[in-house]
Amino acid sequence: MNSQIKAVILAGGSGTRLYPVTQVVNKHLLPIYNKPMIYYPLSLAMLLKIRDIALVVNPQDRESFEKLFGDGSHLGMKISYIIQEKPRGLAEGLILAEKFLDGSSVFYLLGDNVVFGHNLPLVLEEALNEVLTEGGAFCFGYAVPDPERFGVVEFDASGRVLSIEEKPKKPKSNYAVIGVYFFDEKAPEVAKRVKPSKRGEYEITSVLEEYLKEGSLKVKLLGRGFAWFDAGTHDSFLEAGEFVATIEKRTGLMIGCIEEIAYRNGWIDREALIKLAKPLSKTEYGKYLLKLVDE
Ligand code: DAU
Repeated sequence: MNSQIKAVILAGGSGTRLYPVTQVVNKHLLPIYNKPMIYYPLSLAMLLKIRDIALVVNPQDRESFEKLFGDGSHLGMKISYIIQEKPRGLAEGLILAEKFLDGSSVFYLLGDNVVFGHNLPLVLEEALNEVLTEGGAFCFGYAVPDPERFGVVEFDASGRVLSIEEKPKKPKSNYAVIGVYFFDEKAPEVAKRVKPSKRGEYEITSVLEEYLKEGSLKVKLLGRGFAWFDAGTHDSFLEAGEFVATIEKRTGLMIGCIEEIAYRNGWIDREALIKLAKPLSKTEYGKYLLKLVDE
């Protein structure tokens, strides 16, 4: 168990880019192929052996998330809920999470991001260890054809970060910043210093910029061996689902299966896994869990 770090997953926002689909259903509860979207970022935190996790949710959606995860004890975890009254921006989640974090570092994840790649847990672990030993913030860049849709990071020839900008009209590079961040214990204080952007939101990019100014922002590029989706639009939502389906069918292994990770982490035993799988036994998902028991 990793006790110096907690995870916070952002699952609020208005989801307007997915309307009418998200008019009454929270985006993060929609299926990316065979499991709710939120399972994917949650599984990343679990792969890092982080057991204490908070979800930032809209007031009207809290009940649905609680129905899905409860207090997390069935997975051997502690899952709590932080209400964000209005979607004022990604940086606000850090401020709202201050009490929950209680001075620990944070693995900060956007609930609509799906990341997959060879040795991803190892890459994340290295970033985590750097933040735990040296402090500062750590994020990841990923080459995209449409950087203007994202936070964009610019480097000099030696790989040093020069700038980081939110949805620039003229992007200075084709590297998007993905929604997976590590921050040291100063993050809530840093987030409080951030001013709203032109679109009226407290941007996570502004928090990263503050760390950059202090010289304590690290960025690692994820290369071609990784897949990253921000599933917040109709197309990327579909693409993420197709990607997961393709890999899972080809390998017979699941991506983002939270019960499997809890079991392999030793957080739940065989009996607990069977109990979780039984009600799902008519589905491929349930059959997959039951197969793990016989391994
Ligand atoms: O996906 C990566 C991108 O995510 C980054 O490159 C950008 O720098 C970052 O600002 C963010 O951009 P988006 O426009 O995609 O953010 P979006 O509004 O979709 O929100 C991201 C997640 O955070 C989503 O799961 C909803 C949730 N959210 C959003 C807002 C604005 C909240 O929980 N609270 C909020 O106030």
